[in-house]
Amino acid sequence: MKILVTGSAGFIGFHLVKKLLDRGDRVVGIDNINHYYDPQLKYARLAQTGISPDAQQWHRPVASSIYPGYTFVRMNLEDREQLDRLFAREQFSRVCHLAAQAGVRYSLENPHTYISSNIVGFLNILEACRHNNIRHLVYASSSSVYGNNTKMPFSTSDNVDHPISLYAATKKSNELMAHTYSHLFGLPATGLRFFTVYGPWGRPDMALFLFTKAILENKPIKVFNNGNMVRDFTYIDDIVEGVVRILDHPPGGTVKMHSAESIEHRSNEQRTTNNELQTANNELRTANNELRTTNWSAAEILPQQDNKLKRSGNPALAGQQTPYKIYNIGNSNTDNSFSVPPPGGMRQQGKDSVKDGAEGGHITSAPYKVYNIGNSSPVALMDYISAIETRLGRTAEKIYLPMQPGDVPRTEADVSNLVSDLGYKPATTVEEGIGRFLEWYEEYFKIKKYNYAPHYQSSEI
Ligand SMILES: NC(=O)c1ccc[n+]([C@@H]2O[C@H](COP(=O)([O-])OP(=O)(O)OC[C@H]3O[C@@H](n4cnc5c(N)ncnc54)[C@H](O)[C@@H]3O)[C@@H](O)[C@H]2O)c1
Repeated sequence: MKILVTGSAGFIGFHLVKKLLDRGDRVVGIDNINHYYDPQLKYARLAQTGISPDAQQWHRPVASSIYPGYTFVRMNLEDREQLDRLFAREQFSRVCHLAAQAGVRYSLENPHTYISSNIVGFLNILEACRHNNIRHLVYASSSSVYGNNTKMPFSTSDNVDHPISLYAATKKSNELMAHTYSHLFGLPATGLRFFTVYGPWGRPDMALFLFTKAILENKPIKVFNNGNMVRDFTYIDDIVEGVVRILDHPPGGTVKMHSAESIEHRSNEQRTTNNELQTANNELRTANNELRTTNWSAAEILPQQDNKLKRSGNPALAGQQTPYKIYNIGNSNTDNSFSVPPPGGMRQQGKDSVKDGAEGGHITSAPYKVYNIGNSSPVALMDYISAIETRLGRTAEKIYLPMQPGDVPRTEADVSNLVSDLGYKPATTVEEGIGRFLEWYEEYFKIKKYNYAPHYQSSEI
C-alpha cells in the first residue's frame, strides 16, 4: 500500500512515517520545512528516516538510505501544480494529511499563514484526493475546535460552532470541507482531533520542551492562567497507534467513486440510503419544529455582548461574551427538513438533541467520520510541571501569568467511538511519557552538541 504523509518532517508526521515504514508500507512524505520552529529539528527528524540534507531542494524526490520504501519531497501544499503532479505520478491509495500551520497563539499574529496552509492547502489536498481515487483521507483536526466548551469530556457529538482562535476555525473548516467532499464525491474521509501531543522529537513551541529547556538552563518558566489549566496530554506513540488503526479503517466501507462522471452512478446507489434518510429527516422535522420554539441562534447560546470584558483579553470570559450573532432571514413557512445541523456536532440546547452525521450517520450518508484521540485522563498543569521537576531533580522558578487569548482552561477527550470502532484507547501516563521525552532531549542535545536557543515566548500546551 502506498501512503502519502504530509507534514512528514513535523513532530507527528515523522513518528507516523517511521511506524508505517516499520510495518512495510511504502510512503511518500512531503513538507515545506518552514521556519515556524527551528528547521534543524525537522532535518534531524528526516535524517532518522534516512533522508539526507538534499531534502532542502524543492520538488526533488529524495530516497531514504534506510527505508527502501520511503521518498521525501520538499513541497508547499499551496503549490497545486506540483501536488497534482505528485498524486498523478505516485498513485497513492491513502493519504494522511498532517501538514498545517499549528499553534493557537501564533494564529493571533499570523492569520494569513493559517488560511494559506490550512485552508488553501487543505482544499488542494481534497481536490487531489478527489481526482486520484484516494481510498481514505485521514487528516489532522484538533481538540481546539471545542473552544470554551464546558461540558466534559469533549465528545465528537458536542457542538463545535464557536471556535476561539483562527487556528481552531481552520481545523473546524477542514472538517466541514472534508464532509462536503465526502458527500459529493464519495471520498472516504476521517478527521482526527488530537489532544496536546507530547513525546520525543516534540515541538519546541510546546510546554514540555520549553519547560525542560528553561529548567535545565536555570531560567524561569511561564505558567499561564496562574497554573489553573488542565490538559489531556497524549503521548506520541499512542497518537500514532490510533492514526494507523484509523487509516486502515475507512468509514462507510469501500466507496470508490470520486470523479464528476461517477456522481450520477453513485446517486443511484444512494437512492435507497436517501429513502432511509428521508424517514430520518421526517423525524428531524418533528424535532426541529419543537426546537423552533427554542431559538437556537448564537444569541441564545452566547449572552449579551460586553466589549469591555472582551477587551480585557480573558478568553474564558471572551468565550461567553463574544459579540457574535447569526439570524436566519427566511420564510418560516417553508419546509424545515433541510435545516439540518452541520457535521461534527450534536446540538446541546434543550433535551431533544438532534444527532448529526459525524457520529451516528443519522443525517449524512457520506463516508465520513471524526474521532478524538486523547488520553482521556486529564492532568493539572502544575502536576505536569511537578513530573518534569521530579525527573530532572530541580525545581522551576515560576512566573504566574493570566490566561492567554485563544487558549482554553481545560481539555478532556471522550474516546468512546475510538474504543467501540477500533478497540483502542491511549494509555501512556504522563510520568512515563515525560521520562521518555527527557531521555530523548538529553540524548539529542548531547549528541548534537548543538547550541539550541529557541526564542519562543509562549508555552503551547
Ligand atoms: N502536536 C499537537 O499537540 C497537535 C494537537 C492538535 C492538532 N495537531 C495537528 O496535527 C498536525 C501535526 O502537528 P505537529 O505537532 O506534528 O506539528 P508540526 O509543526 O511539527 O508539523 C507540521 C509540519 O507541516 C509542515 N507544513 C506546514 N505548512 C505547510 C505547507 N503549507 N506546505 C507543506 N508543509 C507544511 C511544517 O513544516 C511542519 O513540519 C497539524 O495539523 C496540527 O495542527 C497537533
